[in-house]
Amino acid sequence: MRPVFRMLAKLVVFRCISVYLVASWFVPDEVYQSAEIAHHLVYGTGHLSWEWRNSLRSFFHPAIIALILQLLKILSLDTHVLVYHIPRLAHALLFVLADYSFYKVCLRLCRTKGIAENSFLAYLSSWFVFYCAPRTLSNSLETSLTLIALNWFPFEGKNYKGPTWPYIALGVLTVVIRPTVSLIWIVFGLHHLYHHSNPIRLLLRTVLPVTLPILIITILIDSLAYGEPTIPLWNFLQFNVVQGGSALFGVHPWYWYLVSGIPSVLTVQCIPIVIGILGPNIFRPSLLPFFATTFYIVVHSLLPHKEQRFLLPVIPLLCIYAGGAFQSLKKWRGSAIIGMIAINFGIAIFTSRYHQVGPFAAPRRIIEEWRGHHGKLSVAALMPCYSIPGHAFWHNHLETLRMLDCSPDLERIRGAAELDEADEFHTNATKWLIEKFSKEHTKYQRVLMYEKIYESSRRWFESNNWHQCMEKVWHSIALTSSREDNYMIVLCRNGY
Ligand SMILES: *[C@@H]1O[C@H](CO)[C@@H](O)[C@H](O)[C@H]1NC(C)=O
Repeated sequence: MRPVFRMLAKLVVFRCISVYLVASWFVPDEVYQSAEIAHHLVYGTGHLSWEWRNSLRSFFHPAIIALILQLLKILSLDTHVLVYHIPRLAHALLFVLADYSFYKVCLRLCRTKGIAENSFLAYLSSWFVFYCAPRTLSNSLETSLTLIALNWFPFEGKNYKGPTWPYIALGVLTVVIRPTVSLIWIVFGLHHLYHHSNPIRLLLRTVLPVTLPILIITILIDSLAYGEPTIPLWNFLQFNVVQGGSALFGVHPWYWYLVSGIPSVLTVQCIPIVIGILGPNIFRPSLLPFFATTFYIVVHSLLPHKEQRFLLPVIPLLCIYAGGAFQSLKKWRGSAIIGMIAINFGIAIFTSRYHQVGPFAAPRRIIEEWRGHHGKLSVAALMPCYSIPGHAFWHNHLETLRMLDCSPDLERIRGAAELDEADEFHTNATKWLIEKFSKEHTKYQRVLMYEKIYESSRRWFESNNWHQCMEKVWHSIALTSSREDNYMIVLCRNGY
């Protein structure tokens, strides 16, 4: 077998294993901004969250997943298991191409093949990339397309002989998927313009003809899907930047990425990366990816809402610098690399298999146990909003999924002091059950909740014909919110 194919085959195996191993819940967006919307497009069932009711998101990513689901449907392969896993597999396989093109970028940027291979290993062993790659997250697609695009980026300046339009086209697509990635492309694009012999010609003859058709097609897709002419990118910027809407989802101090975000996603790789950037510069590759990363992180630090997953596209850009530091270790190099891989492997297994696994494990148990019954299930998830996957996961087993509402009050229907439904429930569960849930609880056959909330409201359930009908389901050791608990409880309505 040729070396290229051997490497691709190994990467395919690696990323496919991650599709199987990653069984944990990360963020609601993984389902509710992508697969769930695709399910709605193809089957007409699926929860459209408030962003979709207010035209803030582009349909481009869900449309790709919808194509996959449509294909499964035509082939009659749209079983519950495949509908959930095939889009994940597609994201992971795209990452195989991304891995391979990142390897080639390392070879182009690093001084020697040995350094390039060590930089590549620093990236490939990253627990966070492993954790995100098989998820139907826009960050995952954005990152894989960015890495594939870099294949055609003229790092060599005038010595670069290939075409540059593919990187521009893929770059524009990544911006349509996640507008914030433009921060990286601004730096790369300026570098390209600066080193080009005729920047005006580059803009008019390459950038414009590539960018315009893509933007027009994506605007058409969105206008069709929303049923009116609309540019979600514009609405998104208006909402998040001009109106400061992203601050609704939690605010972190400006230094959060530096002291918490970056160390937690890069872990031990931080050491060789910092040495590679600051240390003796005989092995240091071009600083362009570092400048792009810096600009990206500085602007993200100024935005109030911060998340680890926003760092995904800059992890590989930083890993480029790790190889040089390993090179200077000489005889300790092997042990250092093994140590890096072992630590990341441990974190990857813990976060994929034991941390926040309840949201998938509990529905799976419910579906298994329901198989004997006839008809579809109606389930009430009395827990923080969007903490259980919807139709994209349950597929044909689900009639309705009742979640507690926590949409921001954009139309200002609620009074200033009024809580949303999720807050109301968590303030006093029994009170909410008596006042609100008692009118509708007979619509559902199953209720899902965290153990401690169940304990606090147990009497209401017992006196309203509900009982705990399954062993409690493991969720997590390390809880990220005070509304969670280590176990989830499944309740059945008597007789169902
Ligand atoms: C919750 O509400 C119930 C019913 O209104 C009330 O009896 C109970 O004292 C409340 N619990 C707390 C902790 O406020």
